[in-house]
Amino acid sequence: MRKTTVSDALFERAQNLFPGGVNSPVRAFKAVGGTPVFLARGQGARVWDADGNSYLDFLGSWGPLILGHADPDVVAAIESTARRGTSFGASTDREVLLGEAIRAAMPSMERMRFVSSGTEATMSALRVARGYTGRHRFIKIDGGYHGHADALLVSAGSGLATLGLPACAGVTEGAAADTIVVPFNDETAMRTAFDAYQVAAVIIEPIPANMGLIAPKPGYLKSVRQMCDAYRALLIFDEVISGFRVGRGGAQALFGVRPDLTCLGKIVGGGLPLGVFGGQSVIMSEVAPEGPVYQAGTLSGNPLAMAAGLAVLRKLDQSAYERLDALGRRLEAGIKDALAATGVAAQLHRVGSAFTLFFCAESVTDFASAKRADTGRYARFFHEMLDRGIYLPPAQLEAGFISLAHQEDDIDAFVAASREALATIH
Ligand SMILES: Cc1ncc(COP(=O)(O)O)c(C=O)c1O
Repeated sequence: MRKTTVSDALFERAQNLFPGGVNSPVRAFKAVGGTPVFLARGQGARVWDADGNSYLDFLGSWGPLILGHADPDVVAAIESTARRGTSFGASTDREVLLGEAIRAAMPSMERMRFVSSGTEATMSALRVARGYTGRHRFIKIDGGYHGHADALLVSAGSGLATLGLPACAGVTEGAAADTIVVPFNDETAMRTAFDAYQVAAVIIEPIPANMGLIAPKPGYLKSVRQMCDAYRALLIFDEVISGFRVGRGGAQALFGVRPDLTCLGKIVGGGLPLGVFGGQSVIMSEVAPEGPVYQAGTLSGNPLAMAAGLAVLRKLDQSAYERLDALGRRLEAGIKDALAATGVAAQLHRVGSAFTLFFCAESVTDFASAKRADTGRYARFFHEMLDRGIYLPPAQLEAGFISLAHQEDDIDAFVAASREALATIH
């Protein structure tokens, strides 16, 4: 049995301090039940909790840790940078170096700006799109998550293409009114929205990973690009998860679609707080002090985040992605066997080293179908896996991640645990 005494006690104290006992809602385990584990340490593919239990980590801090925990080169870069000062509020050479590395990997990001989170990146990219086009409405995908800026915390009403309603208390109808919500993988709905409204931009995760991982159907992203061109709207790719995850060039290279603006976060910051937005040079000219769209940050371009990001990007060559994909294929094959052996109605979605096991029989192509997955069954699977030393996303509609620190043995341990867990919950 897992020991939980220390985690339980910490959670008790944390609930006195933080709403739900956490500093980001999904950490509270509400979607799977039980008391969240408090993590104390991470090394490579493993984490240890405050009670000393160890787990193989397939969450990777929700995506950033593509090298695993405490990679020696990342730690060394952070240490040596910290010794020379942690923040200046002035420009440093490392901003230039990281900016150049990002542009070399993603040429559509001709110019960019560093911020401190994915939320800031998407919020700022939208503001720039509105400033550049002079239009205020924008299209977002139902179930797409872009952080917690007001206009992006919006859900769809009924119908194909609907004006948004606030999905969150404290967001005004005004803030939501300019958001038009359409289902993923549905060109007709997007065209209907474009026909009905003047739109500044489409903001989209090219590979949605916040309604579980869902791949775009063939040709979908290209046709979104074409519609943006036809209706003179900007295309914003939110690659906070897919950027540097599915390849060095992100989803835009994988699918051969060039967005006007891109948002990055997670991997690019090497586990430190960093977001980036950027794109066509002429569009980025809108940003202050060059243009009228104000955007700023005390800690923007923070030296530690720059150093960590550079250390990670240096290691992400072609062979790194081939290895991640090989590990992903191994995991997929093992899970498919386990599903066949146990007869559980579930399906594994995988793009490279990102994956979701959906507990449903029908195919999942958008938020509506994702929501039909059996979340109760996922919750039981999650706890069976946790008890077997495997740490997964604590919610069905999220993605898990493999890192370069995982070895074949770790994938096999994941598959063996899954086989037992699936048999138990069946
Ligand atoms: C696709 C996507 N965009 C934006 C964000 C927001 O990033 P952050 O949590 O760093 O604000 C997230 C966070 O999970 C994300 O997955």
